[in-house]
Amino acid sequence: MTKRDITLTLNGKTVSGQADPRMTLVDFLRVVLKATGTHVGCEHGVCGACTIVLNGEAIRSCLMLAVQVESQEVITVEGLCEEDGSPGILQDAFRDGHGMQCGYCTPGMLTSVHALLQSNDDPSDEDILEAIGGNICRCTGYAQIIDSIKIGAERLREDKS
Ligand code: FES
Ligand code: FES
Repeated sequence: MTKRDITLTLNGKTVSGQADPRMTLVDFLRVVLKATGTHVGCEHGVCGACTIVLNGEAIRSCLMLAVQVESQEVITVEGLCEEDGSPGILQDAFRDGHGMQCGYCTPGMLTSVHALLQSNDDPSDEDILEAIGGNICRCTGYAQIIDSIKIGAERLREDKS
């Protein structure tokens, strides 16, 4: 099958790669673009491990094809880091708030929350639950995840002011 050339904005940089027309976006990110921070879980839209931000909205990258992101803007967990690659404010908050154990769900949680905080920088518990409702965590208590998100949101607000 003829591969397609795909160019997109990934974490603020223009990148290109080739993908088979049936390649999923998560495989394209991980295998072709080497952005391995995005995890693969169920591969059919249930677990949220593969969540990324596409044009400002949290989506499951296992349910999209790579060819669908031509000329689009994608943010993965790598895009939440500081310029020097160290953990960003939200990532630090998950560490400080004990919002992760094995970390498998964490990139998807972080990208879902990043999308939420773009439109609501002071979310209620209900807002947070709605935003992470599609992200399954099998080891951390959701209470710690919600606490971590609140810590991160507060720090981001302080950072902006
Ligand atoms: S791997 Fe995409 S939702 Fe589970
Ligand atoms: S920290 Fe292990 S699945 Fe969430």
